[in-house]
Amino acid sequence: MLATSLVDIILSTACLLVVAALGASLVRRRKEASSMRLPPGPRPLPLIGNLFDMPTKNVAPTFHQICRNYGDIVYLSVFGQSTVVIDSYDAAVELLEQRSLQTSDRPRLVMAELAGLAWEFSVEGYTPAWRRSRRTFHEFFHQGAVRQYHSTHQRETVGGAVMDTVYGIDVVDDKNRYVAIARRGAEIFGEITTPGRFLVELFPSLAGVPAWFPGAQFQRDAKAWTQELLAVKSVAFDKVVDQMARGCAPRCMAHDLMERVGKGGEQDVSKEDEEHFRDVTGIAYVAGVDTTYTLMTAFFLAMIKFPDHQRRAQAELDAVVGPDRLPDFSDRDSLSYVNAMLKECVRWHTVLPLAIPHATTHGQEYNGLRIPAGSVLLANVWAMAHDPVAYPNPDSFSPERFLKDGQLDGSVRDPLKFQFGFGRRICPGRHYALDSAFLMIASVLHVFDIKPPVGQDGTPMKVDPHINFDSALSHPDSFQCRIVPRSPGKEALVRQAH
Ligand code: HEM
Repeated sequence: MLATSLVDIILSTACLLVVAALGASLVRRRKEASSMRLPPGPRPLPLIGNLFDMPTKNVAPTFHQICRNYGDIVYLSVFGQSTVVIDSYDAAVELLEQRSLQTSDRPRLVMAELAGLAWEFSVEGYTPAWRRSRRTFHEFFHQGAVRQYHSTHQRETVGGAVMDTVYGIDVVDDKNRYVAIARRGAEIFGEITTPGRFLVELFPSLAGVPAWFPGAQFQRDAKAWTQELLAVKSVAFDKVVDQMARGCAPRCMAHDLMERVGKGGEQDVSKEDEEHFRDVTGIAYVAGVDTTYTLMTAFFLAMIKFPDHQRRAQAELDAVVGPDRLPDFSDRDSLSYVNAMLKECVRWHTVLPLAIPHATTHGQEYNGLRIPAGSVLLANVWAMAHDPVAYPNPDSFSPERFLKDGQLDGSVRDPLKFQFGFGRRICPGRHYALDSAFLMIASVLHVFDIKPPVGQDGTPMKVDPHINFDSALSHPDSFQCRIVPRSPGKEALVRQAH
């Protein structure tokens, strides 16, 4: 009896000591953390903080300029909301990949809520609902799954391939209408996710202001956008539901998901899940069309501005593919120059210069600096793509930077590692996008010369469109080019394929 109580006493004392030691270490760590400096940044003004330092135009290059003055991570605070701009690849990998468990949240976007965009899982926080959507999406777009779409890429243009994969839509005229809906959706998404675009993000209580109130333009925008965003997830999906009812729906993502409704077994889903399927297909559609389209626009621009590289890629295609057929995915490993060109397109033009903002769920310590919980993390991937140490002469377009002795050089930092974002939030459509872009580049260059337009006197015109950095999605302003068949034989190949 005595022995038992002695053991009890010893055990309880040991437990108390352990708890006390843990408590003391926690308090010490808390103290250390709160005594740690915030990352450097422009001096904040009372109350408004760095409101006037937040760029609303030319956003990524301006943030990069600020970082050049302060360091590779910079702290800004506006009305108490912490924002950390990450300017270097190494800092982004450490914060957004290695600590992705604590840095994969999204900042609250009041405009997304007002415009009814909350269904898009790209703006959803790090929640079970986000996990579920991502899982469903992954089923159709993981590296192995995207192989099933190779024949679609072979048949379709860039925006068309996504339409076909998601909704089985392949009527040319119709497709343009659907692509226009998706592109408009992406445009609105870009507006809503551009940091600093709307005052209501800083003062969420403004969300209650009625639309007729003077200055409440954001309410009127949100109202107009609600309808357009609803169209994104319903117009094409309704078409598939209707086709299924008539027994003539083509195989596609929407069809495969809807087939599960009401079925027994492990994959049994209820009618309510239809909404989930609409959301996940809707995001593939809106996130997939404009991004890949913008990348291809940049490719055409690069071909006009840097014609020598075009000729080198064509020489490789002539040698590997030959004159009698179009390139396909079986040529991929033999086309080093074309692969390097794809990497250079992805690097040279950053489609989403600040990726999509992440947020921290827990406070972080980085190189002795304190990043508070709830901070917005902006990864300036445009700056990473223009890092002159990783990519000497970063503004020039040079696929050669990724090659050594005619083969891809693994020692050069791969832009695919950051242009698609980071960690648990990394773009889940990247394999699909890269397949689509590879085949597009190879096919276009195999068959056509891309040339600048000619003036009235017949001389080539200079093409130098402004690159727009004012919204979340960066794109070159529209420009003209001539697409000329390389030979009658090559032209015939295209006609045979359609
Ligand atoms: C050139 C083409 C593309 C680029 C450059 C691109 C880039 C990105 C980036 C930077 C992010 C943010 C990642 C982060 O938060 O760290 C993202 C997210 C996303 N992308 Fe893409 N993307 C492209 C094509 C696509 C395609 C084709 C699809 C669909 C088929 C797609 C679907 C998504 C989705 C659903 C998200 C949200 C992921 C999440 O929040 O968990 N993307 N993309």
